[in-house]
Amino acid sequence: MQVFVTRRIPREGLAALSQAGVCSIQQWDSDEPIPRSELLAGVAGKHGLLCLLSDRIDKEVLDAAGSNLKIISTLSVGVDHLALEEIKKRGIRVGYTPDILTDATAELSVALLLATCRRLPESVEEVKNGGWTTWKPLWMCGYGLSDSTVGIIGLGRIGQAVARRLKPFGVKKFLYTGSRPKPESAMEFQADFVPLAKLAEESDFVAVTCSLTPDTKGMCNKDFFSRMKKTSVFINTSRGAVVNQEDLYQALVSGQIAAAGLDVTTPEPLPTDHPLLSLKNCVILPHIGSATYATRSAMSVLSANNLLAGLKGESMPSELQL
Ligand code: NDP
Ligand code: DGY
Repeated sequence: MQVFVTRRIPREGLAALSQAGVCSIQQWDSDEPIPRSELLAGVAGKHGLLCLLSDRIDKEVLDAAGSNLKIISTLSVGVDHLALEEIKKRGIRVGYTPDILTDATAELSVALLLATCRRLPESVEEVKNGGWTTWKPLWMCGYGLSDSTVGIIGLGRIGQAVARRLKPFGVKKFLYTGSRPKPESAMEFQADFVPLAKLAEESDFVAVTCSLTPDTKGMCNKDFFSRMKKTSVFINTSRGAVVNQEDLYQALVSGQIAAAGLDVTTPEPLPTDHPLLSLKNCVILPHIGSATYATRSAMSVLSANNLLAGLKGESMPSELQL
């Protein structure tokens, strides 16, 4: 059997794949994304595909792969880059990487939240540029978590792990929203299930940790930001498209909300002249939620094992239920 790997991946994952003796591997052996034409040529006739979240696997790619393709293994928990309906129609199985990246992503979410609400990048810059003249009572003040209300959009694996890490900071109340109440998950935080509008109105901090779906696309828009308090802080570590970025820009510029921290944007990378990058109250990271050496290594091994199990017709360690 033949597989196509769309990027250079951690060596542990590639070793698992090559040492299994199950398939021959063709790889786009680069840290940079594969050009579309190379992807279309590379998948042709392959039985398995190991891809990244930056590869759009749509009807064109599936057609180019042809009927041999039986397994797609993505090195991500997010699956919004995969045309799932089309994939299901063709009987292709999908592996992904939930759980093993939850801790790293939750940790980064908390780091981003603290960096944003306590204005860390701005403060570091002031030290370097001479803006730090003396200790001033109101200079570089921000907002703290103590006694706050935190709203989580999407109390899934990562959402719960974020709440668990924020609780010891003295959060007074957790709110969450989603497609349905999850009393078993919410119990640990005594979190209340509320509609999105109420979450916006009552939260001092909003953390977006949901998956990107047709329902969540553009969910954080003008109406949402207009309901938030002027002192509130908004964090997104899910996918950029959950947020209407023009509406976010207006909310930040007009002082409708206090600050935003984004690990994910549209597009990625965000052009260096993007208006959001001109704002002091917007902290932007380059999609590094799961970026610890151990996590990326584990993701590569899991995605290799998903692919191998699928090729052998066995149950995958982590298979997406289509
Ligand atoms: P889960 O499936 O465990 O959680 C997803 C959550 O999204 C669920 O709680 C679900 O709630 C919620 N959701 C779905 N629809 C809605 C809606 N309409 N409104 C509000 N919430 C909704 O996934 P994970 O926690 O493991 O991962 C979540 C996402 O985080 C991934 O899909 C990925 O996009 C992103 N991610 C980003 C990383 C980064 O590097 N920044 C790293 C890892 C993941 P319900 O069950 O009620 O539908
Ligand atoms: C994912 O897995 O979906 C992240 O965005 C990267 O780890």
